[in-house]
Order: sequence, then C-alpha cells, then structure tokens
Amino acid sequence: MNDTPDLRSLRDAFGAFATGVTVVTGTKVNGEPVGVTANSFTSVSLSPPLVLWCLQRESTSIAAFTPGRAFAVHVLTLAQQATAMHFARRATVKFAPGEHTDGGTPPGIDGALCRLDCTVEALHDGGDHLIVLGRVARVAYADGTPLVFQGGVFGRFTPLPRARHVEAWETFDGDWF
Ligand SMILES: Cc1cc2nc3c(=O)[nH]c(=O)nc-3n(C[C@H](O)[C@H](O)[C@H](O)COP(=O)(O)O)c2cc1C
Repeated sequence: MNDTPDLRSLRDAFGAFATGVTVVTGTKVNGEPVGVTANSFTSVSLSPPLVLWCLQRESTSIAAFTPGRAFAVHVLTLAQQATAMHFARRATVKFAPGEHTDGGTPPGIDGALCRLDCTVEALHDGGDHLIVLGRVARVAYADGTPLVFQGGVFGRFTPLPRARHVEAWETFDGDWF
C-alpha cells in the first residue's frame, strides 16, 4: 500500500470500480444548453430523493449547475456509446439541431434508459471537482441494457446465471448462496 498514490495509480484504482454511464444536461442563465458525460453519478437518498455527481471544476459547463437550477441525468444504454463520447468532448458544439437531444430545457437525451429531472440542492467541495447534490423532481425509465464503464473501457452488464433480485436499500440476514 502507498500513502501518497501517484495520479496513474489513483486513476487505475478509481477505474476498477465499474459504473454506469450518464449524460447530465442543464442550461446556463443565458439559455445555452450544456451536456456532460459523467460516471460519477450515484443515488444518495430515497426520502428526500437525492442524487449526486461530480463535475470537474475546469468544465466549461460549470455555470449551468448553481443552486436551484434544473438539470437532468440520463442513464445511457449499451447502444449509446457514441452519445457518451459526444458529450465527453470539451464545449465544441454538443447541441447541433436534432442530434442526440430533444431540444428541451434541460435538453433530453433520446433513447436513454432513465431520465431523472433534478434541481441543484447544494454544491460541495470535492477537491478538483464540485460535488453536485440534486433533488429529484421526476423520473422516467424504460427497460433496456445499460452501458457500463470499467478500467477505462465501455462494456456490457451480464447478470449471473440464477441471479436473484436484490433490493439494495434493505439489510440482509441469513444465507445468500
Ligand atoms: C466515461 C466517462 C465518464 C466521465 N465522467 C465524468 C464525471 O463524472 N465528471 C466530470 O466532470 N467529467 C467526466 N467525464 C469527462 C467529461 O465528460 C468531459 O470532460 C466534459 O464533457 C468536457 O466538456 P465541458 O468542459 O463542456 O464540460 C467523463 C468522461 C467519460 C468518457
């Protein structure tokens, strides 16, 4: 074990954690839409309904995520790897008409597995990132296969044979296998 891990080790270690992939959209005060690919998304609380994700402080989209502003989290499907890479680009033109989004406010990502409409509840210091805590106002979800990210590559989720449904919000007793 290393007390002060170097950046490469940190990236590799953090990247060991498999995540889904989201695109978070919002709008700046001047109406300009923003969209950021983010795998730092996580659910936080059921009551009140809270989620969080982390945004690089150097992001050109940061002005869209101030307290009280609306944003939308879209969980991507396996078929949306190109969408993930599109919104991982710096600024450029992410919102060409008819491409990827529905032109709403905040913009909707076409074909996403799930959409969470949120408002920024609080912003917390997260070092070189800003921790964006969001209150969920509305959810919409569809059946589908999620896009997964691990070790710097995209992949697919495959349930284990005979996998049992687990309710992650509950505590478990007894034998599971
Ligand atoms: C799979 C993947 C996950 C990412 N997750 C995050 C994240 O959680 N937070 C973040 O700030 N950037 C993340 N990025 C990078 C941003 O998508 C990218 O820096 C951003 O869109 C740059 O544009 P902007 O400056 O307009 O925000 C991720 C990129 C990829 C490919």
